Amino acid sequence: MCGIVGYVGKRQAAPLLLGALKKLEYRGYDSAGIALSGKTFAVKKCTGAVKNLRDAAFLEGTCGIGHTRWATHGAPSERNAHPHVCGRFAVVHNGIIENYKALRAECEARGERFASDTDSEVVAHLLEFYFRGDLIGALRQACARLMGSYALAVLCTEFPQTIALARSKSPLVVGVGGGVWCASDVPAIAAKNRTVYVLADGEFALLGEQATFFGREGNVISKQPLEYDAAGSIPARRGYRHFMRKEIDEIPAVLENRPHAVGLPTYAEVRRALAAAPHISVVACGTAYHAGLAAKYAFEALSRVRCEVTVASEYRYGDPIVEAGDLVIAVSQSGETADTIAAAQLAKERGAAVLAVVNVPGSTLAGIADFVLPVSAGREIAVAATKSFNAQLMLLYTLAATLAEAKGRRGYGDLLKDFPALARKTVSVGEGVRAWVAYFMSAASVYFIGRGADYVAALEGSLKLKEITYLPSEGYPAGELKHGTLALVEEGTPVVAVLTSEKLAEKTMNAVHEVYARGARVFLITSLEAYADAAELTGAVVIPPCGDVFSPMLSVIPLQLLAYYVALARGNDPDKPRNLAKSVTVE
Ligand code: G6P
Repeated sequence: MCGIVGYVGKRQAAPLLLGALKKLEYRGYDSAGIALSGKTFAVKKCTGAVKNLRDAAFLEGTCGIGHTRWATHGAPSERNAHPHVCGRFAVVHNGIIENYKALRAECEARGERFASDTDSEVVAHLLEFYFRGDLIGALRQACARLMGSYALAVLCTEFPQTIALARSKSPLVVGVGGGVWCASDVPAIAAKNRTVYVLADGEFALLGEQATFFGREGNVISKQPLEYDAAGSIPARRGYRHFMRKEIDEIPAVLENRPHAVGLPTYAEVRRALAAAPHISVVACGTAYHAGLAAKYAFEALSRVRCEVTVASEYRYGDPIVEAGDLVIAVSQSGETADTIAAAQLAKERGAAVLAVVNVPGSTLAGIADFVLPVSAGREIAVAATKSFNAQLMLLYTLAATLAEAKGRRGYGDLLKDFPALARKTVSVGEGVRAWVAYFMSAASVYFIGRGADYVAALEGSLKLKEITYLPSEGYPAGELKHGTLALVEEGTPVVAVLTSEKLAEKTMNAVHEVYARGARVFLITSLEAYADAAELTGAVVIPPCGDVFSPMLSVIPLQLLAYYVALARGNDPDKPRNLAKSVTVE
């Protein structure tokens, strides 16, 4: 993971680097650091978020690099913060150097000393070893030794107004205009009149008065600029205390974007591929995996087409049964999740067509897929995904309705049209969960239960809670509770039940009776008003009636709000949970 930036131009680099780094904090905030070029390097590092690097704003220099870290190798300490310096080189790195131990041993055998426990520092050592006056030459030689993934920005004291770049399997973009820039993503350096180029795997660049790009063999290449919306790339909190709360409020508007995807020419191609696919597979991680699980219920219920959902990290190292003609849907908000990308690549190698369902259209996953459909949730800043989940559901449910139509079952697409308005109402009634917060504050564990699609909402509600409140929490199928987990329920244990299926309502209520009988405090999210008065309940939120197949798109909203308000009450920053990052570009 990690975010990297670089700037070379006429202005003082430090404040610019710090500003860009702040926009990359969603990639990690274990430590931060910058280095400015000169006869020697001016380096400042800190643990924690970029704001702790305030003093670095006064460093002098017009060329520099910066880094915000999500620790992989080595503790989140100042010693392990980037940039790493060796001799004439300073390096920031995003990715993992898998063979760093062997490389480090080789350097140490030459008598070189290391100042950190990271995998990244070895790159600075290799550069110093290979350098014979040619910066790109040394970088190519160093990169040829690396296994794993990297986006690298390099300073060299011999070329004080130059930044050298290399990329393999970690994102890196270059911006030209108002100086020359590089960063892990476009929004960090987006500006009006700035042209952006995406570095591809195996490419290199030299940034100075202009940007020069090099191919694998070191040959100069020309690149097409990326079309992007500079204004749309820059999010603002607009009076909200946290992005997460703002992003929940944006859900109704985001759900209205559905017709955009349906109107794309790709949608017609995807419809044909879906109709022809003998069965569907979904690969994804985290919240996007839960979106896949919810889609499975819809695909199978509406069109009786088998749908398998696999966590991408399991898929890529398993031996998945996937062949020519299959359709594999890779769902990812960022489109940069390393495991999801690798799973999609494996599916492609085995002959399947890959549909990328992403929120970032220019992302790596979008680049390798056969079809790309955007969920159009707008930029999501809070680490815990909210609106992007609802948007993923809207798109996947639309696909399920389309497939159902191809199988002769019409009308489901029309149902979806009501969901923006229903979501608006749900956000408003969902605020009722604030009254529940006290019961969760110091719970030893929390359980979320449901059946069918409600079980998926329970899983996502539980993930939200643990991500930002740090309370141990589990999502469970309501019927499975009695086979083990019930042993953990004791006096006062909060249990949140999700209930939107008329057919399964009594069955879910059985589980409610069972946990209540063991002392649990039970809370209910339901679209079935009749159940909201049950004597066992400490609290209930009644969401609008919405059927059960698509219900997670609504029922998850009060659960997102619950996690948010409990996190606030526990004094946590809901936008930046400890140990996590929004975009997980490493395994
Ligand atoms: C991280 C984030 C989660 C996200 C998951 C998958 O773990 O913290 O919020 O769901 O990655 O990310 P993606 O960008 O592939 O949807």
